[in-house]
Amino acid sequence: MTEKEFIPASYTALNDEGIVAYCSPSNIALIKYWGKRENQIPANPSISFTLDACSTTTRVHYKKRIHKNDEFSFDLFFEGEAKEEFQPKIKTFLKRIEKYMPFLKDYHFVINTSNTFPHSSGIASSASGMSALALCFMEMERGFDKNITLEYFNQKASFLSRLGSGSACRSIQGPLVQWGESDAVEGSSNLFGIKYPYEVHPIFNNYHDTILLVDKGEKQVSSTVGHDLMHGHPFASNRFKQADTNVEKLKIVFSKGNLDEFINIVESEALTLHAMMMTSNPYFILMKPNTLSIINSIWKFREESKTHVCFTLDAGANVHVLYPENEKDIVFPFIKDKLISFCQNGQYICDRIGLGAKKL
Ligand code: PMV
Repeated sequence: MTEKEFIPASYTALNDEGIVAYCSPSNIALIKYWGKRENQIPANPSISFTLDACSTTTRVHYKKRIHKNDEFSFDLFFEGEAKEEFQPKIKTFLKRIEKYMPFLKDYHFVINTSNTFPHSSGIASSASGMSALALCFMEMERGFDKNITLEYFNQKASFLSRLGSGSACRSIQGPLVQWGESDAVEGSSNLFGIKYPYEVHPIFNNYHDTILLVDKGEKQVSSTVGHDLMHGHPFASNRFKQADTNVEKLKIVFSKGNLDEFINIVESEALTLHAMMMTSNPYFILMKPNTLSIINSIWKFREESKTHVCFTLDAGANVHVLYPENEKDIVFPFIKDKLISFCQNGQYICDRIGLGAKKL
């Protein structure tokens, strides 16, 4: 698939008015995407668990404009309220995808969007938010061109989401998604995420992710700045190679269900992401003291309980605690008793691996 194949030839029917709606989840990377080239092309392949509970619901009402001009026309409501501050981000997104969705300036859009997770929880809403909006536009396109196949729909939805926010391209499908070219994964692409194409051991069914909200503030470093810091980073090329190797290693883990090896790869990826930020210039420490306390408690408990609980991190202080379904009765009580006290206002979110976006 090349970029050109996402430029539509012509549409058979363009509706004057309609409503499209999607619920799209967030995702958590096991192998991290950190560093990109122009046009949101990742510097290395990444693999994620699609989440289930953390999601964005977006409803788009579209209506043909009578007086079309060279501007996009839309109103944006977040949780029922007009949000001026989100407008520039949406405008940039529309500009980036216009080439592939040539009808965008023909319509006025009323976009209503809301998240299941609390606002400013420190959980990035860009993956679920951008993918939900991309899916709504794809649904419009599907209405205009009845020949669109499901495979094309998913690929292009992911392709458009990527142009909004890189990691958003991993939110269309589930339970596991790979984005970025890798010799180890057939069909993988830098342009869009694909559903992980190999058999996955049943131990990963219903895998849990309890998200501990350690710091609910604004992100200290935006991901745009973070990705940029990988240009000229002294360890960048080795880091990108490491991610390639980890994709190969994880492939074996997924087929065999070896959780010790899974833990080793996933925790190392999380700490490497943070190590890249500590060793860039300017440098950042995005963990908080409570992040470290949680990590140490998880290590201690894992040793004592002989369970397979582990952690991963985003580019922030919150901790994603991962564990298999068959250990939840031992691990969840530990989380409640020992880890919640490290969360800001005791807040956490119980999530698990999910199957991808849903049309409403
Ligand atoms: O999609 P972005 O540009 O916000 O980057 C996300 C980067 C990480 O969340 C830190 C890692 C990842 O692969 O999701």
